[in-house]
Amino acid sequence: MNERDSEKIESILQENGYEKADIKEADIVIVNSCAVREKSEKKIFSEIGRIRNLNKKAKFISMGCVAQIFPQKLSKISDVVLGTASIYEFKNFFNKDFKGIFVSKEMTESDYIFGHLKSPTAYIDIIYGCDNFCTYCVVPYTRLREVSRSYNSIIQEIKNAVEIGAKEVILLGQNVNSYNFDGVNFIGLLEMVNKIAGVKRIRFVTSHPKDFSEDLAKTILDLDKVCEHLHLPLQSGSDRILKLMRRKYNFKEFAQKIEYFRKYNPKGSITSDIIVGFPRETKEDFKQTLMALEEIQFDEIYSFKYSNRPFAKAALMPDQISEEEKKERLSIVQDLQSKISEQINKRYLGSIQEVLIESKAKAFNQVQARTRTNKIVNIDNSKLNLNEGNLVFAKITKLNKHSFNGEICTN
Ligand code: 5AD
Ligand code: SF4
Repeated sequence: MNERDSEKIESILQENGYEKADIKEADIVIVNSCAVREKSEKKIFSEIGRIRNLNKKAKFISMGCVAQIFPQKLSKISDVVLGTASIYEFKNFFNKDFKGIFVSKEMTESDYIFGHLKSPTAYIDIIYGCDNFCTYCVVPYTRLREVSRSYNSIIQEIKNAVEIGAKEVILLGQNVNSYNFDGVNFIGLLEMVNKIAGVKRIRFVTSHPKDFSEDLAKTILDLDKVCEHLHLPLQSGSDRILKLMRRKYNFKEFAQKIEYFRKYNPKGSITSDIIVGFPRETKEDFKQTLMALEEIQFDEIYSFKYSNRPFAKAALMPDQISEEEKKERLSIVQDLQSKISEQINKRYLGSIQEVLIESKAKAFNQVQARTRTNKIVNIDNSKLNLNEGNLVFAKITKLNKHSFNGEICTN
């Protein structure tokens, strides 16, 4: 979502005749910020200091989640502070002298259609904010209350993106399953997007487990463009911790949702988020997280050490876990998941996958592509002429740590 916000700002700047420049020579420097974990928030303050030293003349704009919650603090080191709900206002800055704090307490831009930069993948916001208030999470404070965008503007925005080359759309929201506009729910929206000519693939993030339904699992199968990949954050395998986190499901219910997905999409992939070291997480609770990973067999997880966040209730909980213990639990979780991921990924060897060419890969003469199940495939392009946005079939030939190698199937 932050990447999309940066893109929105970039598109406004482009429309106003600005071009990208080296940081040392730029007239305007913009830093977007993430507040989801303590580490990312701290980084913003040190980054701003570093960049200001490189370019003392530029107007400096701080935006994003940290700007939303700490506007005063950021205004001391920035000319403009732009909160998450005020991006729309940025388009009016050009008549002003780049000074001020723009931090609205509610989303005001739901009907405005921002531009996209040319890319085979277009990020599309469908619902802003979050009303869940998980006890560890700052997002309800940085992204404010849930507001669904009108489906007409979503569809128009997708058509605009397709016109400049998008082949895939990623529908974004903290909780996409809560989408509801004028009686159209998330499934209804998927049906609408599935009909848009030129869209080849549809993805969505993130689903909250409590709202993921069997109907949605079936919709993923029924709609040809919707990719068979589900990101469903579990956070912990312990019911006691899930309750303290206020996640509103227990492990059994979570496992049931996974079953729904697999029933209709047996070849699909599932990823998740895990937090280790939540306050009061005992060794037994942690063991249950490990058991949950064994039982569910996620394709991949994003795992984090718990960190206290401003406004989030868990920061006040007793029995905080030591940094050392969190570090150890994180490494245990990651080692276990590496083994599980390797076992799952091995099954891809020799298979033929539809892949979308996304960009040049890091290695010489390779391009990076993605399967419908969200796996990265590097393809040798030295004898081919593959371009961004091509949709082709590839045979998976090699398994790397976080990607595959593949060869294009010519027949
Ligand atoms: N500490 C650690 N991880 C967190 N996340 C959210 N808040 C915190 C926190 N306070 C993780 C969750 C979420 C992901 C986006 O970030 O796993 O799903
Ligand atoms: Fe944060 Fe929970 Fe909302 Fe996700 S659902 S953004 S973890 S409060």
